[in-house]
Amino acid sequence: MVSMVNFDNQKMIFTLSNHSISYIMEVVDGYLVHRYWGKTITHYNFSNRPMLKKRTFSATPNIDQPELSPEFIPFEAPTSHMGDYRNAAVCVINPNQQDVVRFSYVGFNILNQAPELVDLPFARNSDEKVETLIIHLFDDISKIQLDLNYTIFENHAIVVRSSTLKNMNSNKIILEKLLSASIDVCYSKQNLTTFYGTHQKEYQINRGDIHHGLFKIGSSRGNSGPQYPPYLAVSEDATEFHGEVHAMTLLYSGNHEEIVERDQYNNLRLQIGLNSETFSWPLNQGESFQSPQALLAYSEEGFNGNSQVFHHFFKEHLINPNWTNKARPIVINSWEITYFDVNDTLIRELIDSASELGFETVVLDDGWFKQRNSSQTSLGDWTVDLLKFPYGIKTLVDYARKRNIGFGIWFEPEMISPNSELIKKHPNWVMRAKNYEPILGRNQYYLDLTNNDVQMFIINTLSKVITECGINYIKWDMNRHITDPFSPINDHKKPGQYFHNYMVSLYHTIDQLTKKFPDVLFENCSSGGGRLDPGMLYYFPQTWVSDNTDAFDRQQIQYNASYLFPTSSITGHVSVVPNHQTNRIIPLNVREALASSTNMGYELDIIKMDSDKKERIKEHLKTYKAERNLILNGNFYRLSSPNDSNSCSWIFVDDNQDKAIVYHIRNTYNTYDLSLTLRIPYLDVHADYLRFETNQIYSGSELANCGLAFENIKGDYQVNKIILQKIVEN
Ligand code: GLA
Repeated sequence: MVSMVNFDNQKMIFTLSNHSISYIMEVVDGYLVHRYWGKTITHYNFSNRPMLKKRTFSATPNIDQPELSPEFIPFEAPTSHMGDYRNAAVCVINPNQQDVVRFSYVGFNILNQAPELVDLPFARNSDEKVETLIIHLFDDISKIQLDLNYTIFENHAIVVRSSTLKNMNSNKIILEKLLSASIDVCYSKQNLTTFYGTHQKEYQINRGDIHHGLFKIGSSRGNSGPQYPPYLAVSEDATEFHGEVHAMTLLYSGNHEEIVERDQYNNLRLQIGLNSETFSWPLNQGESFQSPQALLAYSEEGFNGNSQVFHHFFKEHLINPNWTNKARPIVINSWEITYFDVNDTLIRELIDSASELGFETVVLDDGWFKQRNSSQTSLGDWTVDLLKFPYGIKTLVDYARKRNIGFGIWFEPEMISPNSELIKKHPNWVMRAKNYEPILGRNQYYLDLTNNDVQMFIINTLSKVITECGINYIKWDMNRHITDPFSPINDHKKPGQYFHNYMVSLYHTIDQLTKKFPDVLFENCSSGGGRLDPGMLYYFPQTWVSDNTDAFDRQQIQYNASYLFPTSSITGHVSVVPNHQTNRIIPLNVREALASSTNMGYELDIIKMDSDKKERIKEHLKTYKAERNLILNGNFYRLSSPNDSNSCSWIFVDDNQDKAIVYHIRNTYNTYDLSLTLRIPYLDVHADYLRFETNQIYSGSELANCGLAFENIKGDYQVNKIILQKIVEN
């Protein structure tokens, strides 16, 4: 069997290769250096090795090779104070309290599996062939070992990277920084793509030139945050459809950083990992620290190609296999219907209407527990409000089950209200700094999840509600960011340890619950997509991507989130107009199109609705159910971008390219557009397709190259839905 990982001990070259990518490193003078990351190459013979020159101001550790300065060396794990003046990836306070470490190559080993991390989410093993290269570096003075882990799967254009640092010294050291990946490449006009955003405006694209100096994004909020999700991509002439894209993301949901540095010689350093400014980790003798995993995705087929790499990898190696291909229920959620004003009658009526119209799960959102009539109270008191629900929740779940409807319920488990019974009972469960009043966010505090009792409280509380009531869906919300990163009981002097400990505790808690209840669907939410990252996706197969349900704003949010996330992981609801977030009135067919392009649900009052509207919903749900498998499990490609045009379109197509659904939305009406044309690639160019709506037949090549024309209909917001079926010759 041909190995994917190889070491040439004559040339001192490590190669990781599969049929789509190669990743190559060389050992030079004890340094581990980067040589290549991109499309598969057959043999590497140093063709791109830069010609080095001695330069003034350059440090020259080897007197016989003055041109070999750390200033130019493309390090795989750069450290400080050794002549590489760019941003370091590893920083350690050694036993002499000096932040100096110097690593040299000492050896490697290869495993036929992907490493399974103890405390963190990781790329999962499957039946697929996989190999992991572990390169050992060692600082012989301070006795510190640094292992760099590289995993490659046979069928994915992905390298999984992480680092493990181990203290072999008898004295304590402090790890101040351990990035998950650092890669040096040459600059040749690449530009940079990252995301920015905020509440109700998640996943906005930020694309621009890479200037000399250092560009950094990340989070110090204790969560990955909607501000700058963990992602960066470099590309030169890439479009959605063509060109090379190198992208990175992180399997982590806490503080992170992404750095791009262009130095004076136009070398480009790309880095991703834990946020080093909010991190600090003491290590006693024999102790080690494992960084989160970074995923490095390569494609030569533009950003769509790169998204395919992430989508397939997430489906096969990240999302809980229990849920990957399982049909997700169409939900009706109570939040935008009545907000906190939920009650027994309303939910019964909602169940009745849901069952009449074809919904599959009713989700009782916030407001169901003791005295929770606003966001000012009761988080932590997870017992039913008997004034609103005199017969409890179980009777409602049974009522729903008799009508073949599942039942979901909202929790915000990581939080506690100052106005709660829980805080009176356990004042020391609040995350806080000694002697200081913790700062409020949405009228609430964080629970100190690093306290085992708190973890057990969350696990037991949710378990009780799930088991006693028979709940099969949990919406796990988290609506503020961390301000006081300290534990009243665990003595963390610096927040550096707390932030990561919090995340490990959270992962541990969710891991326990999701393993205990494999059939309960856990949905991730943080005021929408505030903690939508690949780390969360490991535990939660789907995420409420935004509290903004406006079908205009949603176009960008959904379009851009698909850079990383497959459709099944994104939930979207049809909501009322005027929209509660924007006051915009967008026609129903656009709202339907947007929600139908996700893991769909509704969040509007279906109880007090006239029969025509009900019929419309019935039809919509029927259609969605028929198309759901293709939408959630097919391949999703972006066709025209709402970021820079007046339209938004995308296609769902199955693996065999037999069937496709295209949504094309034109926003404002322009008199100068006589007609609209959309090219539709990603079909079989050797086959013909029947367009259902018009009964016309077009070849795949015609649709890809000539495109399909639509009438430009007067009025804003036009939706064209195109269903294409391959014609099979008998
Ligand atoms: C957050 C969520 C909403 C809703 C409310 C309830 O904002 O994103 O969907 O659940 O909390 O308070």
